[in-house]
Amino acid sequence: MGCPEDAVTYEAVYDRSIKHREEFWAEAAGLIDWDVVPQWMLDSSNPPFYRWFPDGVLNTCYNALDRHVDGGRADQLALVYDSPVTDTKRTFTYTELRDEVAKLAGALTDLGVTKGDTVIIYMPMIPEAVMSMLACARIGAIHSVVFGGFAAKELATRIDDAKPVAIMSASCGIEPGRVVEYKPLLDAAIEIADHKPSSVMMYQRPEAEASMVGGRDVDWASAVAAASSHDCVPVGATDPLYILYTSGTTGIPKGVVRDNGGHAVALAWSMHSLYGVNPGDVYWAASDVGWVVGHSYIVYAPLIHGCTTVLYEGKPVGTPDPGAFWRVISEHGVNVLFTAPTAFRAIRRDDPEAAYMEPYDLSGFRALFLAGERCDPDTLHWAEEKLGVPVIDHWWQTESGWPMVTNPIGIEMLEVKPGSPTVPVPGYDIRVLDDDDRECEANQIGAIVAKLPLPPGALPTLWNADEHFVDSYLRRFPGYYLTSDAGYKDEDGYVYIMSRIDDIINVAGHRLSTGAMEEVLSDHPDVAECAVIGVADDLKGQLPVGFVVLQAGVEHDHVEIETELVAMVRDRIGPVAAFKTAIVVERLPKTRSGKILRATMRNIADGQKWKMPATIDDPAILEEIAEALESR
Ligand code: COA
Ligand code: AMP
Repeated sequence: MGCPEDAVTYEAVYDRSIKHREEFWAEAAGLIDWDVVPQWMLDSSNPPFYRWFPDGVLNTCYNALDRHVDGGRADQLALVYDSPVTDTKRTFTYTELRDEVAKLAGALTDLGVTKGDTVIIYMPMIPEAVMSMLACARIGAIHSVVFGGFAAKELATRIDDAKPVAIMSASCGIEPGRVVEYKPLLDAAIEIADHKPSSVMMYQRPEAEASMVGGRDVDWASAVAAASSHDCVPVGATDPLYILYTSGTTGIPKGVVRDNGGHAVALAWSMHSLYGVNPGDVYWAASDVGWVVGHSYIVYAPLIHGCTTVLYEGKPVGTPDPGAFWRVISEHGVNVLFTAPTAFRAIRRDDPEAAYMEPYDLSGFRALFLAGERCDPDTLHWAEEKLGVPVIDHWWQTESGWPMVTNPIGIEMLEVKPGSPTVPVPGYDIRVLDDDDRECEANQIGAIVAKLPLPPGALPTLWNADEHFVDSYLRRFPGYYLTSDAGYKDEDGYVYIMSRIDDIINVAGHRLSTGAMEEVLSDHPDVAECAVIGVADDLKGQLPVGFVVLQAGVEHDHVEIETELVAMVRDRIGPVAAFKTAIVVERLPKTRSGKILRATMRNIADGQKWKMPATIDDPAILEEIAEALESR
């Protein structure tokens, strides 16, 4: 595979990606094997909707597996599964993984799944999760992976929106100290949902046996054993590869759509240019297949690029100790690691001197990439010092599918400025706009946007919701994509991400909506009104805290109500929300026009200096909130 950007500067590459956009991506499209090579690069006939490579035809699974088997990597490891929570390791060469996926694809077609159908994948971090995604891609079915830490209700919402023909799942996930049985959650979700899938394919893990529903559930092993291998089905470049739901500002998640062609091209291009990774290298994204990082950089990008990818079912600490990451790096020869800063904060907290690094040979390790939340300079410096390799903070989101701002080390390693994820990625015309739609001066904070059209790989729309797509991202600044992050650029063009401009909070690298949590709290019969804010946390970045005002005349014990509220959020959204604190207060601070002063509450909670807002209706309430927080 060629790496067209060798020996040029970032500035030159970036400039060309914006000024000669179509030529730039036509060249990158050469990294992909097409059934029909696209002649038309960008369909801009229906703005603000854009489509990349509209006349191209390909298969993403072919690009991730078969072409490497045929092209000299048949015996190279494609996938290494390392699971300290089950004390298991399994490896698959490209040939083995291709054969497993082809059989699984056959089993799916036996269940009646065909091109264009949707399939929900609700699985823990086991090789079968990766195989499920690739098997769907192989037959042109559209997968939608749901993260295992979500509750039945969240899964039900996704089932109703994606309307899957089949669901692929496993009997359990394993969290340190507990087995999370998936089947009862899945059965409950199907019960709640209006849409009913025709079949459920169930992978039985030895740690828990799932009970089967007659006429609907099929045993994974038997289905695969009875199936014949299925070949790759050609699909249009603009056909969807997957839907990935992410938090919006309400309890209704957004179904981010990813197409086949643009996605394959962008990811293939990113591996060398942005991550400095070559085919044959070992790449490890310590995330979860349920998140976008898992989709892009556990599964698709490393495989499309001919790397070995590592699937890790464990935590950075406690499985069994803070040396877990160093063990995996040395044992599997990892060259590049990608994770969230929170993982490094956890390691540093438990092993500040990095004594657990001592026994391991990390000589093959070249770079650490961090994303998912703001990377605090302390964590960045600690990682740099202990690892002695470049530590790259980079910024992106589920919607973009690949980085929007980074230090593009495969093109040119730029100066690192702690606190900044560095510069816009080629293809992303990143601007900072003020409230009057004007571009901000250097160092002036505004809304971070990307000028349309977005490059290949970024979302073309939301699933069955073009209007919602326009309303959420394109309406506020016509001609630009609204990222919902606020920040600024310095005089050197470095981008700084400061905060979200909506109600999204970031807990341990997981994106959560406080609005969705408020919807749950409001459902408690004793609650009159509520506010959930994200307060700063040393380990997880932010943690949600809920404040509730009770209905008049409620006699119910406050501590009991608070416990019930915590249980409700865990039950409806899931443990991943990490919602552990609900506080009953007399009143919520509001402006005279009735708007809850969430930002001021957050400043109080974070112990930051705060000014009494001029518009507050009753200043004494803020003192009450401060006291309530202090008493916790
Ligand atoms: N299935 C079921 N439950 C899950 C789960 C899953 N797949 N993933 C997490 N949970 C549960 C956890 O067990 C925990 O439950 P608890 O309240 O009973 O303890 C809860 O959800 C919160 O999980 P998490 O936020 O992961 O916290 P943690 O305390 O278990 O671990 C870290 C903290 C920092 C070690 C962990 O968050 C981590 O490794 N983060 C890496 C970040 C990451 O992968 N980000 C993805 C984007 S790159
Ligand atoms: P997600 O869609 O879950 O990947 O979350 C995306 C959001 O996480 C972004 O909009 C940012 O708010 C935040 N985020 C991701 N990466 C970074 C980063 N490097 N620095 C600051 N915030 C980040």
